[in-house]
Amino acid sequence: MANTSLLHAKRLLLGLTGGIAAYKAAEIARLLIQENIDVQPVMTKSACRFVGPATLQALTGKMVFSDLWDDRIANNMAHINISRDVDVILIAPASADFIAKLANGFANDLLSTLCLARDCPLFVAPAMNRQMWENPSTQRNLTLLRRDGVIILGPAEGAQACGETGMGRMLEAQELVKVILSFFQPKLLQNKRVLITAGPTYEAIDAIRGITNLSSGKMGYSIARAAQEAGAKVTLISGPVCLESPFGITQINIVSAQDMLVAVKKEISNVDIFISAAAVADFLPAKISNQKIKKVGKNISLKLVSNPDILEYAAGLSKPPFCVGFAAETENLEKNAKDKRIKKKIPLIAANLAQDTIGSDESTLILFDDKGKHLLHKAPKIVQARRLINHISLLYKK
Ligand code: CTP
Repeated sequence: MANTSLLHAKRLLLGLTGGIAAYKAAEIARLLIQENIDVQPVMTKSACRFVGPATLQALTGKMVFSDLWDDRIANNMAHINISRDVDVILIAPASADFIAKLANGFANDLLSTLCLARDCPLFVAPAMNRQMWENPSTQRNLTLLRRDGVIILGPAEGAQACGETGMGRMLEAQELVKVILSFFQPKLLQNKRVLITAGPTYEAIDAIRGITNLSSGKMGYSIARAAQEAGAKVTLISGPVCLESPFGITQINIVSAQDMLVAVKKEISNVDIFISAAAVADFLPAKISNQKIKKVGKNISLKLVSNPDILEYAAGLSKPPFCVGFAAETENLEKNAKDKRIKKKIPLIAANLAQDTIGSDESTLILFDDKGKHLLHKAPKIVQARRLINHISLLYKK
């Protein structure tokens, strides 16, 4: 298989086969190009009935190939030349018929021939009616493909073009593009086990009220995605947020700081790196009322007691993982962050100004480690997360 540490522009072959989901391939091409990935479209004859080659040509700026006997290729070996010029092949949509061809090594059109002749990883995004998906022959073919190292993406469950509902919908363009972007990231934490906490915690006061904070979880979720992209096995322990789980990670949902501590204790012995991005509530009510507290009198007092410090617990273990903390401050950012790193006995802390960061899609981070201070200029959180993972990979050596 081709080396994935790429020095040249990233190049992908987008194969379209016959299915109504072919229209989504235009969006896949557009999103990949936005990410500076060079896209070469190849279409089967059936795909050309669902979407015009001109659409893919206009979006990618590339000639669209569909004929095994295309005489625009000087040596008339389109199947070899095209597959050698790319780092990865994505078939989206992949019809049941095309999956059957791939599984059995058929090579009777350009796309199946160049898949058979490939020297790079192959991703397949099935799209078909639910009965076709469930048919034992399709499932058998998929088992064969998986055994051959082909990566099957999806499908999803939902409404289908034929009017039925079930498994067989192709994954959305954004989801497929995320997987491809992940494939192109350097594998800095290959097979490392990474545990991440994210989001706020919620400390109940009574049956319907509680103490929480404005953390959106975006930074922690971005770190989970970046760690997964870097080849790590990721477990994400998440407080209550409104975010989609990143693809390919294990997620544990919790509510309170106590729940988070229990989940961390259960997972921590198996991890190499612990990244504590959660905004854990420092206090919880001393007494939680099972019923709604009624409005009697004018004022009430709420007695609060301390929550456990989860990061301090992890860093204080006899054999701690490599621990990374966050410092969300509203003032004296650098001093507070440096003090926190020392107090919590952790090798690395990422500091940010709470008022600039909470809920935002972007952040500015300052990292503090034994070597001093490293500024990560303002950028989208996924970019900051990738920079943070890169920094961790330099410090973490085992
Ligand atoms: N943290 C934790 N458990 C807590 C409080 C914080 O694990 N009970 C972790 C956070 O996930 C973060 C780091 O400790 O990685 C610092 O959290 P922060 O809220 O900035 O600081 P605190 O330690 O809570 O101190 P203070 O609220 O006084 O700033």
